[in-house]
Amino acid sequence: MATILTLAGDGIGPEIMTQAIDVLQAVNKKFTLNLTFESGLIGGTAIDATGEPLPEETLSRARAADAVLLGAVGGPKWDTIERSKRPERGLLKIRSELGLFANLRVAKLYPQLANASSIKAEIISGLDLLIVRELTGGIYFGEPRGIRTLDNGEQQGYNTMVYKTSEIERIGKVAFDLAQVRAKASGKPAKICSVDKANVLEVTELWKQTMTKMQESQYSDVALSHMYADNACMQLIRDPKQFDVMVTGNMFGDILSDEAAMLTGSIGMLPSASLDEEGKGMYEPCHGSAPDIAGQDKANPLATILSVAMMLRYTFKQEQAAQAIEQAVSDVLDDGLRTVDILDSSEADLRQVGCQEMGQAVLAKLV
Ligand SMILES: NC(=O)c1ccc[n+]([C@@H]2O[C@H](COP(=O)([O-])OP(=O)(O)OC[C@H]3O[C@@H](n4cnc5c(N)ncnc54)[C@H](O)[C@@H]3O)[C@@H](O)[C@H]2O)c1
Repeated sequence: MATILTLAGDGIGPEIMTQAIDVLQAVNKKFTLNLTFESGLIGGTAIDATGEPLPEETLSRARAADAVLLGAVGGPKWDTIERSKRPERGLLKIRSELGLFANLRVAKLYPQLANASSIKAEIISGLDLLIVRELTGGIYFGEPRGIRTLDNGEQQGYNTMVYKTSEIERIGKVAFDLAQVRAKASGKPAKICSVDKANVLEVTELWKQTMTKMQESQYSDVALSHMYADNACMQLIRDPKQFDVMVTGNMFGDILSDEAAMLTGSIGMLPSASLDEEGKGMYEPCHGSAPDIAGQDKANPLATILSVAMMLRYTFKQEQAAQAIEQAVSDVLDDGLRTVDILDSSEADLRQVGCQEMGQAVLAKLV
């Protein structure tokens, strides 16, 4: 029997989590998965209850669980408290405490949503791109960091971007291995684009050299290319289908994966997985807590529901159950149901629905 810890968090977190848990319970029954569920506090709601964005109890339950499903954290209510106590710190801490160094984000275009994207349909139709982002190193964690006062009284903010060879190798392995798996499934040649800024940052010069050595010594069947981060931002808009797997560090991955999300029409459609070295993972939508629509039944629950599919695929190796969820999402889109973020008002046959109705429609396809 495996245990899943659910952490709804803040803003739209509880609304989308309710729908995702309903879906998870349905596949649990249908495929006899023997999953049990626990819930815990994280983010602003945890601060309100305990004073900490990641209470010790949540962390120890997360360590004991086989997988974690997270909604989202943060909101204006907690934006003015001391930085080290803010909701987002709880998220960074749980990722680093669980050793979740590999973040996988799939930007896949559902054909039904081709018109919801701001990019021309012919550029994005058939898009299926995986971004592998290093999640526990780089500039978001590097020391020293802070804001200091210089001798002349002026303030200076500073952060440090650092990567060791071993950190680059372990994320490289995840990306190369997944490129091989995807090539096997699609019948296309395996390829990876490693994104860096090696023209100006020594830390990414080491990144580039390490990726090249790995390809030459262990992955000669995977074509490796390198691209500067600024060019990668442009190429994602110009011709996103040139990419299959992109691998990059924490900060560039943060930016590129949000950009890739918009290619698919809405950040409300994009799931993610964060894995440790044993494949245990935390699964969450790529979006934040959307305080502007929280509590209004407007949130798109599909990114969280698709995160459940990733959990079943990567941690529990239940491919059939994962595909059943993905198919149910596709069927609901075929039926014309849209939350407001993916609604194209020029299409006559679509029906706007709220978070709850969308979640229950997916559920109905599964039972
Ligand atoms: N992983 C996380 O928990 C996470 C990630 C990013 C931001 N945040 C936090 O979330 C808060 C809001 O941040 P933000 O506004 O920059 O980003 P956001 O992703 O919350 O929202 C950006 C825009 O996208 C919309 N949106 C997001 N998710 C949606 C969904 N499921 N359905 C429909 N629309 C959706 C929002 O309404 C908003 O207009 C901040 O406190 C931020 O720190 C948390």
